[in-house]
Amino acid sequence: MIGETGSKVCLRELTLDDWRDVHSYASLPEASRYQPWGPNTVTNSFEFVQTIIEDAMRIPRTRFVFAVIHLQQQKLVGAGEINIRSLSNQEGEISYIIHPDNWGQGLASETAGLLLQFGFHSLRLHRIFGTCDPRNIASARVLEKVGMIQEGKLRQNLRIGDDWRDSLLFGMLTHEWNNSL
Ligand SMILES: CC(C)(COP(=O)(O)OP(=O)(O)OC[C@H]1O[C@@H](n2cnc3c(N)ncnc32)[C@H](O)[C@@H]1OP(=O)(O)O)[C@@H](O)C(=O)NCCC(=O)NCCS
Repeated sequence: MIGETGSKVCLRELTLDDWRDVHSYASLPEASRYQPWGPNTVTNSFEFVQTIIEDAMRIPRTRFVFAVIHLQQQKLVGAGEINIRSLSNQEGEISYIIHPDNWGQGLASETAGLLLQFGFHSLRLHRIFGTCDPRNIASARVLEKVGMIQEGKLRQNLRIGDDWRDSLLFGMLTHEWNNSL
């Protein structure tokens, strides 16, 4: 079983049974505030987890979605994802979400660090990037805290409803990760 363990959380592969826990945060407006999806209906959350399980079986596998498990509470408090965006360029993208009940405890920062570890160490990626809405200060701070460098701002690269949204782009290279250990 693949995964990573930190001091506050561990990452283990998401399973179909997790869909209710996923729904408990994905159905909240504050959790999807800066996202192109949500708030989720029950069907949205179930289908989302189902798609993750299907994607995990594809060969070559390019999508890895982990449940974020709070080590003390032994419960699912979020999800972290790494997608290989280019196999030939060994490039991946990370993203994460934490249940609002658990915000401000450093869980997303630890999750992002574990995703980088998995990406650089287990997947042998050369470059990993992450993006966030410029208004999503907490997410930008998470990317900064794990040592990723802001490389620029993508202009209107996402459509949310009738609006176009900019994204801040943060990246890290494998040698930068190794130097940070
Ligand atoms: C973004 C998110 C993952 C942060 O989760 P979290 O577990 O609360 O993050 P952390 O506790 O690791 O905190 C990260 C940093 O952000 C800061 N921060 C948190 N909320 C903040 C806010 N509203 N304004 C400014 N800084 C904030 C924290 O203080 C911390 O920085 P510090 O250690 O220098 O004090 C969480 O808010 C979330 O799930 N949001 C919805 C989904 C989402 O936006 N995901 C990111 C997709 S790009």
